[in-house]
Parts: sequence; C-alpha cells; structure tokens
Amino acid sequence: MRIFSIETSCDETAAALVEFNETTQSLSLLSNIVASSLSLHATTGGIIPEVAAREQIKYILPVLKETLQKGLGYSLEKEQIPPAIDAIAVTYGPGLIGSLLVGVETAKTLSYLWNKPLIPVNHLYGHIYANWLSSIDHQPAAISFPALALVVSGGHTDLVLMKNHHEIEVIGGTRDDAAGEAFDKIGRLLNLPYPAGPRISRLAERGNPKAFALPRPMIGSADFDFSFSGLKTAVLNLVKKHKWNFNDENLTQENSQLLADLCASVEEAIVDVLVRKTLKAAEQYEVKSILLGGGVAANQKLRERFTFEIGSLKLDIGLFVPPAQLCTDNAAMIAATAAFSHERADWRDLSANPQLYF
Ligand code: KG4
Ligand code: ZN
Repeated sequence: MRIFSIETSCDETAAALVEFNETTQSLSLLSNIVASSLSLHATTGGIIPEVAAREQIKYILPVLKETLQKGLGYSLEKEQIPPAIDAIAVTYGPGLIGSLLVGVETAKTLSYLWNKPLIPVNHLYGHIYANWLSSIDHQPAAISFPALALVVSGGHTDLVLMKNHHEIEVIGGTRDDAAGEAFDKIGRLLNLPYPAGPRISRLAERGNPKAFALPRPMIGSADFDFSFSGLKTAVLNLVKKHKWNFNDENLTQENSQLLADLCASVEEAIVDVLVRKTLKAAEQYEVKSILLGGGVAANQKLRERFTFEIGSLKLDIGLFVPPAQLCTDNAAMIAATAAFSHERADWRDLSANPQLYF
C-alpha cells in the first residue's frame, strides 16, 4: 500500500510518500519534505498561530508538488491522471485550528479529486509510529508488545502503554508544562531563541550538569505523572536573585560559562525525571519495548541516558528512538500511523479537531 500523507498541525508544513509492505509489515520512505516557519517564530519568542497558518497556506502546494515529484516523478501541474497512491493520510488533531485546517482541507480536496480514501491520523500517535520508520532499510521494525511509549514534545509529555497496534492506554502525563515547553520557557528566561530545546542542549555540552541543584518535580511520586512548572520557577528565581543578564552583546566569558552550566543543569533535571519515571513504568507493566517520540526525543542526552540505564539495570527491553529528523514534526510518521490504521473517512465528513487526545 502506498500512502501519501500531510501534516500541518503546528508550524511545519510537511508531506511524505511511504510504501507499506503488508506481507513483511515494513515501511519504506519514498519522499519526505518538511517546510518550517520556525525562523519566523524565533523572532517572536514563540508560535503566533495566525502567522503559522498564513505561512502554511504559502507552503502547502510547493511541498505537495515536491513530495510527489521526488517520490514518484509525478508532476501535479502536468499529469491528467491521479498519482499511483492507495490512500491519503492527514493529521486532523491535536494542534492549532488554522494550521490543521490547511492540511485537512487540502487532503479532502485531493481525496475528492483523485477518488482516494482518506485516513485521519492523530498527531500524537504519529510521534509513536515514527519508530516503525526506523526500518527504512526495508526490514520490519522489531518492536514487540506490550510497549511503553514516551511522547515528549512542545505540547505533550505522555506515558502510553501499547498492548497492540492502536490499543492504547495513557498511564501518565504532565500536570502543567510539557517537557518541550519547559525547555522553551526556560530558554526565554535565558534569552535564547525559540525553540530553545536544541539550543539548551548544545550549550549544555560544555556545561557542568551538577552546577545548580534544580528540583526534579514528582520524580518519586507513586504515579506516572509529570510536572515541569516548578523547574521553570526555580530557574526564574535564580536568574532574578543573581540579576543575571544573558544578552548576547554583554555575554562575558564568565557569564557564558554560567549559561552553559545552567543549561546543563536544566537538561539533566528534565532527563532525570523522564528516564526515571519511564523505566519505573516499564518495569511495573513488564513491557518488552520502550518507544521514544516527539521533538524532545531528539535530545542526545535523553537518548544516551535511556541506553545507559537500560544496560546497567540489565533490563530485557528493546529501546527504539527515531532518527532526530523524524522526532520533530514530519508527515512520514503520519503515513506510518495510517499504515497500521483501519480508520477511513469520507471527505464530506472529516473535520479538524484541535482538542484531540489519545
Ligand atoms: O514534536 P515537536 O516538533 O512539535 C510538537 O508537536 O510540539 O516538538 C517541538 C519541541 C520544542 O519544544 C523543542 O524545544 C523541543 O521539541 N526539542 C528539543 C530538541 N529538539 C526539539 N528539546 C530538547 N532537545 C532537543 N534536541
Ligand atoms: Zn509534534
């Protein structure tokens, strides 16, 4: 089955073509295009929904054209017949309403025009199913159930038990800020451009993670929930108390080391909580695989720590982490989810659902 997919839930405009071999259950990527308006949001310190959606209206057709051209040599302008695809998958939630509408309405139009079935996809499932794309070498992904997925993105920090494909139970989530949101909000306090996760992680490389004793909220609680707003407040209090100013122009060598130490301490605190709680859940639910997904799963420290802890605890659990470019928003993960989904929608009925959850 060949799936054409579209993802526009936040600030990315993405499309992909993925081939699913039903016999071997393996996926291969034919093309995967992502256009981002991130650099625009860096200047405003966060995403302005209206700005994001306006950019997506500009990007959507060029992105679709390039995906079809690269994956199938199909020209949207010249061809008279529909492309050789079996279905169109689209993210219908959660996300920003204006952004979601761009993708959903485009997918509905193409479904009508080409007479191809529509597969509605939940963006959160997408981050989990990015793990099945690790098998780009045409091998089926060796993921065994039950699996535990940690979805860590700008809007979500969820621990999800997967008994089988699309058989999901949420066992924990954040009570306030998501992990990515914590990185981004702390980044703003430190005068770093949005999104701050990758910047904090890079600065942390030359910092001392033990320099500041920051809180690890809820690390020992009996449940599998998270809370990151206390960490943000702790950093705010430190910055205020010491009257630190991390403006680029007056960043002395001393301040630059201070910033690196602070970033390393923040990253360590977030990684500590995520790894500890996930492994505790993995042991309690006796899972066979751990799947990471979402933008924060691109974090190198998080990946290394999971590998290290699973090894040192001698846990018989497979760890799966998508390549960094498939952790952040993309359409390939939407096609991967669709490949294992039995849901179909008529173009007349599908609507965007910004509030969608698992
Ligand atoms: O999944 P994603 O691309 O979009 C959402 O669905 O939210 O995740 C974006 C989030 C941002 O908060 C960003 O700061 C964070 O992922 N992020 C990272 C890294 N790369 C992206 N956080 C920590 N370390 C990274 N390397
Ligand atoms: Zn996402």
